[in-house]
Amino acid sequence: MSDLTPHDDHGSAPARLGHSPVADSPHTLRVADTDPKAAKRAERQVASMFLLSMVLVVAFIVCYWTIDKSTNIYIPVFGEVGLMTIALGLTSGLSILLIGTAAIQWAKKLMPDVEVVQQRHEMVSPEDATAEAVANYERGKEESGFVRFPIIRRTLIGAMALFPIPLVFLLRDLWQSPVSGTLTPAEILSTTIWKKGERIVVDATYQPIKAADLPIGGLVSAVPASLPEVQEAEGNLNARGKAAIILIRMDPAEIVSQQGDGWDYQGILAYSKICTHVGCPIALYEQRTHHLLCPCHQSTFDLANSGNVVFGPAARNMPQLPIGVDSEGYLIAMDDFSEPIGPSFWERG
Ligand code: FES
Repeated sequence: MSDLTPHDDHGSAPARLGHSPVADSPHTLRVADTDPKAAKRAERQVASMFLLSMVLVVAFIVCYWTIDKSTNIYIPVFGEVGLMTIALGLTSGLSILLIGTAAIQWAKKLMPDVEVVQQRHEMVSPEDATAEAVANYERGKEESGFVRFPIIRRTLIGAMALFPIPLVFLLRDLWQSPVSGTLTPAEILSTTIWKKGERIVVDATYQPIKAADLPIGGLVSAVPASLPEVQEAEGNLNARGKAAIILIRMDPAEIVSQQGDGWDYQGILAYSKICTHVGCPIALYEQRTHHLLCPCHQSTFDLANSGNVVFGPAARNMPQLPIGVDSEGYLIAMDDFSEPIGPSFWERG
């Protein structure tokens, strides 16, 4: 148990150390220790920061409701960025920063600034030591200013009470469609921009892929060819998040089962890239076992056997995309996914 009262080697409790035996130099008082006006000024600074943090939480809520999600602004270096993303990030980030800064300012300028010696003692404290610890706690509570500075106490409580509100607003989007507000999460995750005849292209370069481009044991991260236009029109990354896939190729004789007949093309299989546990993107593939490993919580999927879970917390197989080739020999989707992609939180009803 920690004993914050300075002791000498014989167990008695000396007064706090104006002249520290630990650092052999005289204790220097801070301005706020000797000047009541400076202390008052520091108190106002701390309270102002807590107040401003509360104002920023309100600003976060206003931005959330008023800014159009498709509005982008151009920022040098970063390029096109969603205005809402910037506004929510700045307001919530500054709100947290102000709470932290205010706490540091409070500790540095107003909380007790004395050196204490902590002696080692038996694991089980005697009763008088316990009583002394309680007394120390009470004294610490008094000296911390929690009782003495009511403005700081109230603004701190206010700031901490409002601080979780942005999280509630962000979680709300898990249950509502950003478009209509009527679709369930399972319905939202059941539809992607994949459709029959949609060419499969390499992620980032958007190069179409021929079957011969992918050797046995190879893996390619891919997206639909129409993704750039959809992203441009929607002004967000939702379509990318749902349509991202991986293409892998194995010897057709090694395929144990698929989620439908003939969903592969000459041993090339396409699976969603989004983990069915909580949605991390996956591309760690071991070609010898055909296992796909999620780096977040180690869920492992057997891509030679319907993408079934062989290890880890994921409760659902990895959704497979049926594929074929077009008249020019490029890989295409034969349909959309037949089941929701991504996390399965919605299964809990
Ligand atoms: S997100 Fe993949 S295992 Fe948790």
